[in-house]
Amino acid sequence: MDNQDYNDFISTVSHELRTPLTSIRGFSQTMLASWDRLDDESKKKFLKIIEEQSNRLINLVENMLSITKFHSGSDKVILKEVMIKPVVDTVIQILKNQYRDKIFEINIAGSIPPIYSDKDKFQQILTNLIENACKYGDENSTVKIQTDFCEDCKFVSVKISNYGVGIDEKDYEKIFTKFSRIDNPLTRKVQGSGLGLYITKNLTEKMGGKISLTSTPAGENYLTTFEIQLPVCDIEVQAREKCSP
Ligand SMILES: Nc1ncnc2c1ncn2[C@@H]1O[C@H](COP(=O)(O)OP(=O)(O)O)[C@@H](O)[C@H]1O
Ligand SMILES: [Mg+2]
Repeated sequence: MDNQDYNDFISTVSHELRTPLTSIRGFSQTMLASWDRLDDESKKKFLKIIEEQSNRLINLVENMLSITKFHSGSDKVILKEVMIKPVVDTVIQILKNQYRDKIFEINIAGSIPPIYSDKDKFQQILTNLIENACKYGDENSTVKIQTDFCEDCKFVSVKISNYGVGIDEKDYEKIFTKFSRIDNPLTRKVQGSGLGLYITKNLTEKMGGKISLTSTPAGENYLTTFEIQLPVCDIEVQAREKCSP
């Protein structure tokens, strides 16, 4: 990391940390100072905000840790058999509180085999992609999560789609690089560090997978789909690499 990169890194990270921390502090101070005057509903609402903002901080810190691990080469992946559905459910459970206007449509066939992956990293990948779909999706729109299994190529694909501003084809590669954000009115409005997709691509490839995207006109806006393909845990691989069940 050169000096300019380092300065960018510190400044984006500090900015990203400050917003949720300010909100956590503000709501806890208000609760402490006005506890007796607040009704149960308000207390619950404030606690929910504190919870959401803490989740945001956790995701951010996970991403930061991944970056330092890539750079020091100490990033270990623990490959095991991972069921997709429970991980998707966990991620949605957390994000749906934060993005209440979104409709989540989850389509995961029961016949999808487990993938051979690092569970925590797979969760981090999904969090980044589903969060982007929420952040850059139109208000009150649908976010779709769908899986397919390619029997011949022994890959499971997870597609995450949203309707929104879309991504110009000329930016398809750029968005996977460090700190890159596309300059449009929406990106300026929502917060971000430009690190999520860089980390997502790195993690996906580290687990023997691939990531790609398409963004095509759909009515007045664009349908953007990010697809990750991850290897399944087949018996041959299991035997060869001691993939534990
Ligand atoms: N689903 C999407 N629709 C439109 N633009 C997107 C989408 N996902 C990512 N982008 C664009 O790619 C950029 C990089 O994404 P990311 O690395 O996750 O950084 P961040 O979300 O912190 O800005 C975003 O700033 C945004 O401009
Ligand atoms: Mg992001």
